[in-house]
Amino acid sequence: MADPKIRIERVSKLFGPDPQAALPLLDTDASKAEIMEQTGSIVGLRNVDLDIAGGSIFVVMGLSGSGKSTLIRHINRLIEPTAGRILVDDTDVVSLSKAALRELRLHRVSMVFQNFGLLPNKTVIDNIALGLRFAGATNSRARDLAMEQVERVGLKGFEKQYPRQLSGGMQQRVGLARALATNAEILLMDEAFSALDPLIRHDMQSQLLELQADLKKTIVFITHDLDEALRIGDQIAILNDGSLSQCGTGEEILLHPADGYVKRFVRNVDRARVITVSAAARKMPTITCAEISIDKIARLLSAEDAQAVFIVDDEGQPTGAISATSVAHHTDDSYWRDPKHVLPVTRVSYDTILANALSDVAESEAPVAVVDERGRMIGAISRQSALEAMAGTNGPSNSAKC
Ligand SMILES: Nc1ncnc2c1ncn2[C@@H]1O[C@H](COP(=O)(O)OP(=O)(O)OP(=O)(O)O)[C@@H](O)[C@H]1O
Ligand SMILES: [Mg+2]
Repeated sequence: MADPKIRIERVSKLFGPDPQAALPLLDTDASKAEIMEQTGSIVGLRNVDLDIAGGSIFVVMGLSGSGKSTLIRHINRLIEPTAGRILVDDTDVVSLSKAALRELRLHRVSMVFQNFGLLPNKTVIDNIALGLRFAGATNSRARDLAMEQVERVGLKGFEKQYPRQLSGGMQQRVGLARALATNAEILLMDEAFSALDPLIRHDMQSQLLELQADLKKTIVFITHDLDEALRIGDQIAILNDGSLSQCGTGEEILLHPADGYVKRFVRNVDRARVITVSAAARKMPTITCAEISIDKIARLLSAEDAQAVFIVDDEGQPTGAISATSVAHHTDDSYWRDPKHVLPVTRVSYDTILANALSDVAESEAPVAVVDERGRMIGAISRQSALEAMAGTNGPSNSAKC
């Protein structure tokens, strides 16, 4: 990646009596359990490389104990690596002085905690203003800025309440407002929504996405919940025993899980809600109107074993389709040059979520044309290719790294 906001460079973390002594074992194929047995050290992270793009939501997933919190805590140096480098913009976080580290935590990287982390004896507004006060703002300036965030997260009217008077979702909004108030470009969210019940959790995800559309922060978000990861993550990294199993978009991970561990994670996902029509599309033969002849159509259909030939205009935009079944009934070239005899084409944009195109696929007699941003044909989805994409039986597998 050209200029990542955060770069994790071959970071390893061992907890135990002599981490350095156990370090060489990370480059062998010894498992986490074997390393523990041989050295007494617990593998937190193992040679992790990650680039996190500015302005994106980067989700970290993995089973309990896989290293998610350990990873996120390296970014603001709540944890020091045993080996490797962490860069925020171009700042090498590990080499920061105490004062510079404080500056980083106050102004550049803020954190939202799972259990909200609010002070019970302070009001909403004072909880939000706290970080600003630490950063040196006057009381009235801190309160003004805090009030802006109260409004931003939809808590206007509740600013004088105490945390115990608020629901869990509202308390987490306060946590979010407090993290936003410092204007830090990076938000670290460790299971921030996990304590909330499902409906409120969904609302908080929506609110985060709305805020993000406006603020374009770099958000590192830990979750156990794959649906949450797929909903909000631009990129998803999956950790296994401290190692990175895979990193990619939700769609890449669903379509091409890198190993059995990732496969188990994605097994029960409703794929149609995640993958785009591009992933379900098949290449289809095309022909221009002037080229139409029964011989050519028959050749194209058999060469590409296709269900239809699409007629495209000079721009490459599909205007009609001739199906393999109907072509056998009319062997006269001029019949097929008449637009009223060809099937109408339904078009969908390449980035449409498959679930949103399924009714078109079901209703259209010809496969549905998938087009690029200029309306040019990329491929088409038949009922069969849609079903294959949903069942995960299409396409080859490859692994995607960030
Ligand atoms: N301070 C510590 N001392 C010793 N071992 C630790 C420490 N912190 C973490 N570990 C170990 O490092 C590994 C990774 O822990 P981590 O807390 O990062 O996992 P996690 O993925 O966040 O799990 P969870 O989903 O349960 O929060 C675990 O095996 C854990 O036992
Ligand atoms: Mg954790």
